[in-house]
Amino acid sequence: MSTGFRFDRLFIGGAWVAPIDGGVRPSIDPATGQPWGDVAYGGARDIDAAVAAAKAAFEGPWRRMPPWERAALLRKFADLYATQVGALAEVETRDNGRAVRESRGDIGLHAQYYHWFASLADKLGGRTIPMDDSVHAFTTRHPVGVVGAITPWNVPLMAAAWKLGPALAAGCTVVLKPAEQTPASSLALAHLFEEAGFPPGVVNVVPGDGPVAGARLVEHPDVAKISFTGEGTTAKTILKAGADTLTRCTFELGGKAPHILFADADLDQALNAATGSAWALCGQSCALGSRVLVERPVYDKVVEAFRARAARVRVGIPLDPATHMGPQAHQQQLEKTLSYVSIGRAEGAELITGGARIDRDGLADGYFVEPTVFAGVSANMRIAQEEIFGPVAAIIPFDGEDEAVSIANSTPYGLAAGLWTRDTGRAHRVAARIEAGMVWVNTYRYIRWSTPYGGVKASGWGRENGIEGLDPFLETKTTIVSTTGTFADPFAN
Ligand code: NAI
Ligand code: MG
Repeated sequence: MSTGFRFDRLFIGGAWVAPIDGGVRPSIDPATGQPWGDVAYGGARDIDAAVAAAKAAFEGPWRRMPPWERAALLRKFADLYATQVGALAEVETRDNGRAVRESRGDIGLHAQYYHWFASLADKLGGRTIPMDDSVHAFTTRHPVGVVGAITPWNVPLMAAAWKLGPALAAGCTVVLKPAEQTPASSLALAHLFEEAGFPPGVVNVVPGDGPVAGARLVEHPDVAKISFTGEGTTAKTILKAGADTLTRCTFELGGKAPHILFADADLDQALNAATGSAWALCGQSCALGSRVLVERPVYDKVVEAFRARAARVRVGIPLDPATHMGPQAHQQQLEKTLSYVSIGRAEGAELITGGARIDRDGLADGYFVEPTVFAGVSANMRIAQEEIFGPVAAIIPFDGEDEAVSIANSTPYGLAAGLWTRDTGRAHRVAARIEAGMVWVNTYRYIRWSTPYGGVKASGWGRENGIEGLDPFLETKTTIVSTTGTFADPFAN
C-alpha cells in the first residue's frame, strides 16, 4: 500500500485498537472485484467504546477548550488535509472506484469546508432579546453532545467533511461510521485528526455493518444526534430505532433531479452540464441530473448529442488519470443499475446507447457498466421515478413551462434541480415553482461549503453546509435575568 495509512484497527479514544466484536476483513476494489486492503470493522461493543470515548471528550477537554482553540485545531487539520489530497484520493478511489480525476477534484475542495466551519467556531453567539426594564434576556448556543455520523459509499470523505466540519465547530464530539463497502478513507481521515493533535475521543472512527454497528450507534442512549446520508428506507429504520431515546436526526436521502433544457438555452453549455451530470461518479450521486427534461423543438438534437457524447466517455481503471468514469462502487449497485435497464426496456423507453456490463479485457472482473441513455421516457415510468444510482440518463420530452414544472415535481424526491434558459424571467419563474432544496440556473452541481445543501419531500430533513449547516449540532438556551431581584408574593392578598 503506497499511501502509508493503516486500516486494520479502529480509531477509538485517540488509540488504534483491535475490534472487540468485529474483525478484519478485505475491502474490495470494484475495478477488479478483488481485495485490495484489510480493514477493521466493529460491532456493538466497539460502538459502545467509541461512544463512551466521545462522551468523555465532550464532557472533558473539548467542552473546556475555548472556541478559538477549537477553531485553530480544525484549521491545523484542514491544512494537513490539503497536503494529503493525492493520498486520500487514491484510498477513496481504491475503495469506491470513482475516477481518480474526480476524487482529486472533490477531495481537493474539502480543506475549504473544514476551514470555513473553523472560521465559525468562535462566532456562535446568541441574541439579546428586547424586554421590559425588569429583565435582561439573552440566548446562548451549546453543542448537542455526541454525534453519530453515518456516511454512504459514494462520497465517504465529502460526507465526512459535511458532518464533522460543523459538528466539531459547534463543539460536539463524533463517532463516524462509514459505509461497509468503503471504510478505508475514513480511517485515513482518523490518522489526520490524530496527527493534528485533537484530544482523544473527539473524533472516533468505527467502520462496520449498517444493521449492526450503525444500528447500535442510533439506539445508543448517549448519542444525541444522528447525521445520516443514504437511502430513504434506512432513514425510516433509523428514525424508529432512535425514537426511544428521542435522538435528533438529519437525513440526506438522495433524489431524482430534473435537469430542464428549454429550447432557448445555450445548448452546448447545457449539454456539457447535462452529460457531465448524467455520468459523474458513474451515476452514484444524489444531486445528479438523472432526469433530463428537454423542450420538444430541441429534443432530437439533445438525444443525438447524448448518444455522441456517450461514445466519448472513457470508461476504465479508475486510478488511471485519463479515465472519465470508473466502475459502480460495488456489485449490488451494479446489479441494481442493470435491473433498471431491464425495467426501462420493459416499460417501453427507447435505449439509445449503453445499458450493458462491460466485459472487455482488463475490465471484465470489475463492476463496469456502459454510459447509458434512455429517450422517449415518460414521467411516470419507474426509470423516471426511482433513484437508480447508475450512469443512466432518462430523457423526457416536454412542451412549455407548465409541463416542465409538472414533470419536475412529479417524483417523491426533491433534492435538486437545474434549468437552462436565456429568458431571465422564466429562470426565476420556474426556479420558484420547483419543489427542491436547491435549484441551479444555467449551471449545475455548483456546491460549496457556504451554500446550504439538502432536500424536501422524500429527499430528507435538514441542511448541510452554510450557516444553516451548524443548526442541527446546536441547542439554544434562553437566559432571563431580573434587574430588580424582586418577585411579587402571589398569595399576599
Ligand atoms: P444505506 O442507506 O443502506 O447505507 C448508507 C449508510 O447507512 C451506510 O453507512 C450503512 O452502513 C448505514 N446503515 C445501513 N443500515 C443501517 C441501519 N439499520 N442503522 C444504521 N445505519 C445503517 O444505502 P445502500 O443500501 O448502501 O444504498 C442503496 C441505495 O441508496 C443506492 O442505490 C442509492 O439509490 C441510495 N443511496 C443514496 C445516497 C445519497 O447520497 N443520498 C448514498 C448511498 C445510497
Ligand atoms: Mg442498505
